[in-house]
Amino acid sequence: MAAKTTTGSRKKAPAASGGRGAISIRNVTKIYDPEGVNVMAVDNCSMEIQAGEVCMIVGPSGCGKTTLLNVIAGFHSLTHGEIYLDDELLCGPGKPLAKQGADRMVVFQNGALFPWKSLLDNVAYGPMVQGVLSKSDARDKALDMLAEAGLKDVADKFPGEVSSGMARRAEIVRALINDPKVLLLDEPYRAMDALTKSIMHEALLEMYDRTKVTIFFITHDLEEAIFLGDKAVVMTTRPARTKKVVDVNIPRPRDYKLLSSEEFRILVEEAKDAVHEEAIKAFEAGERELA
Ligand SMILES: Nc1ncnc2c1ncn2[C@@H]1O[C@H](COP(=O)(O)OP(=O)(O)O)[C@@H](O)[C@H]1O
Ligand SMILES: [Mg+2]
Repeated sequence: MAAKTTTGSRKKAPAASGGRGAISIRNVTKIYDPEGVNVMAVDNCSMEIQAGEVCMIVGPSGCGKTTLLNVIAGFHSLTHGEIYLDDELLCGPGKPLAKQGADRMVVFQNGALFPWKSLLDNVAYGPMVQGVLSKSDARDKALDMLAEAGLKDVADKFPGEVSSGMARRAEIVRALINDPKVLLLDEPYRAMDALTKSIMHEALLEMYDRTKVTIFFITHDLEEAIFLGDKAVVMTTRPARTKKVVDVNIPRPRDYKLLSSEEFRILVEEAKDAVHEEAIKAFEAGERELA
């Protein structure tokens, strides 16, 4: 059963986004069947994510985190259970595969900008091809959003001409221009050094403070989870289940000074044992790194 951890009596920072983007994951199981061999990736997993909440999913490699994201995004079907987005059934009995849609935008681990398009054209692309905005409106909006994210001066550059941090930021802007209800991020800063990562964290938090979009963010970095999240959900080793939920009652806006504060350290310590326990189990089970 999921242990609920709360800290102190301080009121939680408001996380409302006008009521959009609440996700309810109910008893979800996912069994892959490669060549007739069953692999249970997610087992009877449940969690509630409030509208406008930053929910961090922490767990060892191979535990089933990406699988869960793929089911929410509509890339993979589920085997049992159901998932709701704002009280609408995304997938469940009779409808195992969620319909993909711009209400759930995914930012992948390895980046997915078109290398042959400028950052501006990458960002403007979605609303333009969907016919939501005209070409010039899409470009105007893209430029505004890139400027808000500190990328105005590099808007005309190609992804290969900017730093990886800038490219990752542009990718999030590209997701946000669609005004999604939910942003799904799969270890987006995994390969970055600590300094770049901390700059990325602040940039993401700024974007979140502006949009209050619901965020489902996968990581195996516990400090990242506590720094960014309204809550951190620690998953078991495969098959993924909710092991522990840590509520992060730290007000926003947050900045890097938080990392050396006592309240931050206390929360990290609280979750550490649970994460460590599962990492050891994963190691003993011989789970491999799965990018
Ligand atoms: N398409 C697939 N077919 C078969 N097995 C898969 C597939 N994708 C993932 N798996 C298996 O499901 C388990 C969980 O994988 P994944 O969700 O990628 O874990 P994580 O993201 O936590 O590292 C792993 O054992 C992996 O081998
Ligand atoms: Mg993964």
